[in-house]
Amino acid sequence: MHTLNVDLGTRSYPIHIGTGLIDQAELIDPYLRTRKAAVVSNEVVGPLYLERLCAGLSRLGVETIPIILPDGEAHKEWQALNMIFDALLCGRCERSTTLIALGGGVVGDMGGFAAACYQRGMPFIQVPTTLLAQVDSSVGGKTAINHPQGKNMIGAFYQPRLVLADTATLDTLPEREFSAGLAEVIKYSLIRDAGFFDWLEENIDALRVLDAGALTWAIERSCRNKAEVVVADETEQGERVLLNLGHTFGHAIETGLGYGQWLHGEAVAAGTMMAAELSRSLGWIGDRDVTRIERLFERAGLPTYGPALGALRYLELMTHDKKTEAGKLRFVLLRSIGQAVVRSDVEMSDVCAAIEARCR
Ligand code: NAD
Ligand code: GLY
Repeated sequence: MHTLNVDLGTRSYPIHIGTGLIDQAELIDPYLRTRKAAVVSNEVVGPLYLERLCAGLSRLGVETIPIILPDGEAHKEWQALNMIFDALLCGRCERSTTLIALGGGVVGDMGGFAAACYQRGMPFIQVPTTLLAQVDSSVGGKTAINHPQGKNMIGAFYQPRLVLADTATLDTLPEREFSAGLAEVIKYSLIRDAGFFDWLEENIDALRVLDAGALTWAIERSCRNKAEVVVADETEQGERVLLNLGHTFGHAIETGLGYGQWLHGEAVAAGTMMAAELSRSLGWIGDRDVTRIERLFERAGLPTYGPALGALRYLELMTHDKKTEAGKLRFVLLRSIGQAVVRSDVEMSDVCAAIEARCR
């Protein structure tokens, strides 16, 4: 097992990464405030892993309340969130009861938001079961639900007390979902870790066949990158914005098509190509860099073109994004592979041209 620490003073927490961790309830035990935990999962992940997690906790004398949500991004909204509150109340959960989120980013984001709100905040633990959740969404404390007008619009910053990433759970993850997670892995390399990009070019095939060594290494390096950014800028006043490379374009794709049509990681990949195209048009990165990025996404099984919604529709959707400041759109762009910057002074004609160049 490898352990990293997210160093946030009194709210610091460990990220444990390894195989078979779901069966090691003793890793969770020290982070429970009482002998009671609500475990939020969904109708796909629940049947696979809930019983094992709860059995381990039960052996340690912990009462568990299972809460099963409907599956999918389309259910990352108020009604499903309210199901968590109903179940917590029915199960007589208290503010000291711990909420454990067992699932991908949707369960993690919703479970975290519920934990932040229930009785003004209950302890929260992340047990991520998708690659995307293990490298990104379980770390850093962003929690949210979607609004029909915008992705992740209603939410809170609320850090977990522990992240337990069992890489063996990825054995049951559909290939398309695994590829979606690779989009966020590639993102870290592009924004701040050129050496990691080189490594990914060498090892992307090993990752796609779930080579254990490559996988653990990539998850750890991704989490290390994420933890460093979160520690420097927990509530996204500065550097953390860089973690949204490709997301402003990507969120427009997700909202524009309807949640759940494209996977989040797929939208991020196509959105990153739009950001790369825009960076090239500003003279920052060259043709060779754009080709390298495109080739890596393709080899990861990800789209490199967005859907043809029309540049004006993209702009309309993007102006609703949380990255706008005083009504101005901000873009995460690439100075080079491994160095991202934020710019809000980009000409809209250049943005439209980049979108058009990367839609089909
Ligand atoms: P997801 O949670 O929908 O999971 C993908 C699919 O895989 C679902 O059908 C799920 O039930 C299934 N699944 C999960 N684990 C499985 C397993 N081990 N075996 C088989 N099936 C499994 O999607 P995701 O890609 O994990 O997360 C995407 C969400 O994360 C988006 O809503 C996105 O906005 C959010 N996100 C949040 C952050 C953050 O910082 N909070 C960062 C990135 C993404
Ligand atoms: N996924 C972006 C962030 O956590 O800031």
